[in-house]
Amino acid sequence: MTSFLELAEKRRSVRAYKPNVVPGALVNQVLEAGRLAPSACNKQPWRFIVVKDEAIRRSLGTAYAREWFWKAPVILAVCILPGDAWTRPHDGRNYAAVDGAIAMDHITLAAADVGLGTCWIGAFDPAVVRDVLNLPDGVAVVGMTPLGFPDTEPSPRVRSRRPLAETVMQERWG
Ligand SMILES: Cc1cc2nc3c(=O)[nH]c(=O)nc-3n(C[C@H](O)[C@H](O)[C@H](O)COP(=O)(O)O)c2cc1C
Repeated sequence: MTSFLELAEKRRSVRAYKPNVVPGALVNQVLEAGRLAPSACNKQPWRFIVVKDEAIRRSLGTAYAREWFWKAPVILAVCILPGDAWTRPHDGRNYAAVDGAIAMDHITLAAADVGLGTCWIGAFDPAVVRDVLNLPDGVAVVGMTPLGFPDTEPSPRVRSRRPLAETVMQERWG
């Protein structure tokens, strides 16, 4: 059984996908992991959009012009509803994007767990995505990801991350 740390290490941004259909049960398993994500005050201010239709994927490709993105057999969009989200009373900070990012993280890790690849896409044109997905007011896409079987081998090197000693900014023991 994979430990959580092994899974966190295994998950990589995948930028090449096989055209093979992803079984619906696997897609649902990944979405279920997103559904179970924690959110501020348990508001769950997210909705997921699953795009398999090739014409719609191709249109999404005009919002983020990479073939590997729209040619993946599935694109998932994680939407947020700021109007439903918890707002911190002290400064009015809305937590919808934080909650949506946590859901997306559950999704990418769950996908890696079942052998599927994902890649957080944030650099899309939001106006184009809004138009293509016909999003109502009050709903925004916080991130998208292709979903499919990777057509690439992850490189064996340990990904570059800032060392823990530099990541922990303060360590205060009593
Ligand atoms: C919020 C966010 C937005 C990102 N947007 C993009 C993107 O638009 N295109 C892309 O190719 N990768 C994108 N990435 C992937 C990062 O480049 C990647 O996670 C990082 O380089 C670390 O590599 P790894 O995911 O393989 O560990 C994004 C990641 C995050 C968390």
